[in-house]
Amino acid sequence: MNHPLVSLTIDGIAVQAAPGSTILKAAQQAGIEIPTICYHDHCTANGLCRICVVEVSGARTLVPACVATVQDGMIIHTQSERVRRSRRTILEMLYSSVDLSEAPEIETLALVYGADSQRFPGAQRREPPLIDDNPMYIRDYAKCILCWRCVQVCAEDAQYTYALNFSGRGFETQISTFYHHPMPETTCVFCGQCVGVCPTGALKPKREWLLEKGYTPEAIMGLTRNERRGKKRREGLSH
Ligand code: SF4
Ligand code: FES
Repeated sequence: MNHPLVSLTIDGIAVQAAPGSTILKAAQQAGIEIPTICYHDHCTANGLCRICVVEVSGARTLVPACVATVQDGMIIHTQSERVRRSRRTILEMLYSSVDLSEAPEIETLALVYGADSQRFPGAQRREPPLIDDNPMYIRDYAKCILCWRCVQVCAEDAQYTYALNFSGRGFETQISTFYHHPMPETTCVFCGQCVGVCPTGALKPKREWLLEKGYTPEAIMGLTRNERRGKKRREGLSH
């Protein structure tokens, strides 16, 4: 049985969407772009970053468009002053605590919303040391915005490997392996999907990272090849 479409208004445009659609999808369908950071088309939406908030008439708080579903008669504003100020502040807070120098999509949003990267100069920054514990990719959590995409693709959204989760609480929360074990000692199969969905360069292919550090391609091949042999030796797989 076909369910009737839901009728709503987004930025003055009459939109009809399937029941259960998110506001984000309904807006996209109408050609209206709502910014996202933690949301990824192939990952479960968790509504973590709040950059996608919109104003819904009659609602007390701003609503995250990536998880909130459409309701009949909704009147939505995606670019009101309140929405833009909220997005700007979120971006400024991100800038105050993590290194976004390799997050081009977020940097573009900062320009669009006029975010001042220096607005909170005294804020405590998250600067854990870079983790280089395997031949395939490095983890630089000083660049991590805790979007959760890597955890999701490592789990039910794709790989069902569960090598990644988080450690710590509050400000100390960080993506991690179980008991901080080095990656080769976890269930990680080095599929690379976490690196593929990371929006900030916190996860980066090891060879790319070495190239940026000035190593020659030959040295990089030698280094990563040797490391792989070392890993095999540790696992007793080679002689
Ligand atoms: S490492 Fe990357 S993908 Fe994982 S939570 Fe941090 S920013 Fe998101
Ligand atoms: S994109 Fe919706 S909360 Fe992050």
